[in-house]
Amino acid sequence: SKERLNTLKAFALEGLVASDTDDLLLAKGLNYHTIIKWGDKISDTDTFGFNNDFTCFIPFDENNPKDGLLWVNHEYVNPLFVSDFDARKYENPFEHRTKEQVDKEMYDVGGTIVRIKEENGVWKVVENDPHNRRINGKTPISVNWDSPIKGKSTIIGTNSNCSGGITPWKTFLTCEENYDGFFGETEYDTNNVATRRPSSYGWENFYDYPPEHYGWVVEVNPKDGTAQKHIALGRFAHECCTLYELEDKRVVAYTADDKNDEHLYKFISSEPGSLKEGTLFVADTINGIWLALDWETQAVLKSNFKDQTEVLIRAREAAKLLGGTALNRPEDIEIDPITGNIFISLTNNKQKGDVHGSILKIEENNGAFDALHFKASTYLAGGEEKGFSCPDNLAFDLSGNLWLTSDMSGNSMNKKDKPYMVFKNNSLFVIPRLGEDAGKVIRVASAPKDAELTGPWFSPDGKTLFLSVQHPGEQTTDLKNPTSTWPFDEDGIPKPAVVAITGDLIEKMNKLNQFEI
Ligand code: FEO
Ligand code: CA
Ligand code: CA
Ligand code: CA
Repeated sequence: SKERLNTLKAFALEGLVASDTDDLLLAKGLNYHTIIKWGDKISDTDTFGFNNDFTCFIPFDENNPKDGLLWVNHEYVNPLFVSDFDARKYENPFEHRTKEQVDKEMYDVGGTIVRIKEENGVWKVVENDPHNRRINGKTPISVNWDSPIKGKSTIIGTNSNCSGGITPWKTFLTCEENYDGFFGETEYDTNNVATRRPSSYGWENFYDYPPEHYGWVVEVNPKDGTAQKHIALGRFAHECCTLYELEDKRVVAYTADDKNDEHLYKFISSEPGSLKEGTLFVADTINGIWLALDWETQAVLKSNFKDQTEVLIRAREAAKLLGGTALNRPEDIEIDPITGNIFISLTNNKQKGDVHGSILKIEENNGAFDALHFKASTYLAGGEEKGFSCPDNLAFDLSGNLWLTSDMSGNSMNKKDKPYMVFKNNSLFVIPRLGEDAGKVIRVASAPKDAELTGPWFSPDGKTLFLSVQHPGEQTTDLKNPTSTWPFDEDGIPKPAVVAITGDLIEKMNKLNQFEI
């Protein structure tokens, strides 16, 4: 409507230019405060972990958006910071590490639950609230497989927790991404003979946990911290898990495998309000078909795997046998709240010459989320002329504006990786839906040095954007002289942290849904 367009004009967005300043810079109309950072006490026994990624917030009471539980993923650790171990000193670094060092690292991955409250515009952790707890690399987690791998119905710990999601029944989902970095991977040759590829962190030298125990979607109960790994959604480098509730309360989950030439998946549950059972599909984006990873009905799976559990554990191989389309590192996924279209970040695929990545759009047939056919197209490609590269996390605000973050690798921040130099530090962008800036990619936040902005999540009233600042100062080789000092603590050590971004710009972008589209 005219009124809406006038409103948009009145606060025409002034984006930031690319910057290599070591600070969290924000566009006009935004400000931030830090809610929690690495090492902060959350209870008498626990502290906040390292490298926070996905965040989400569930209020206790739908009528009070200012008091609830924040979930934060802790994806991985930088040993120099966490266990005082400098891998650069050794040729085979992880042969030189102690159990005590590995224990420290295992503590700092997983996730955190904290109660947070907003008072006078400031979000604070409620100290010692009974909900505050850590889930870490050693927390027992239940698992619901029929033919247990290496015997266990309980798994020790979660790691590599990248992005995630939330269920309609108000639990957290946290996704195990690059799990092979911690416990290695089981690999099969052409005769189906298994060998174990060692991990880069070498945790298996002290804790011989099977690689098959990791690489799952994990559901966490916010109230008591109990957790379960969901086998039915398959095992691979899950970036995220984005849910849609069907009318009969069954759920559809979209999840992707963030690795060069891996796949996009969709899961349709067979029971309402549960992710325990259902069918997993892989996307053939060329022909627009969801292909079922179903041992019973797919002959090619029956001849290659002994049962459905093995299909799910070796989902990558099963997806390839079925003809799933190789994608350029599919990462975060969001559903457009207005059109129901599904958007997937394809970060890049340098080996294939896709340097800047793109955003893929999926339109399910007749808009039905349980459809078996769809149309795929490129919504937006990264590059210099578009002003962004390597899209990773996505979030829609209450008005359907799309927010996205970039994840250019550490090399680019070291200024060695030429195509990325022009973009400078990783950033947060918004793509307005309407008005004179509609469709433009506008930079609204610029990260501290070496950092990546992750886990964008809007509070239910649309007044706060929760955001993680992950791995500031990651390229540091000497803690006395770090590459970043954000968040500017007295000790000068850079620390991953979760911030609350508030201000006019957030509120106005979110209020637009009061106008007609
Ligand atoms: Fe942990 Fe694919 O980012
Ligand atoms: Ca990511
Ligand atoms: Ca997201
Ligand atoms: Ca990434």
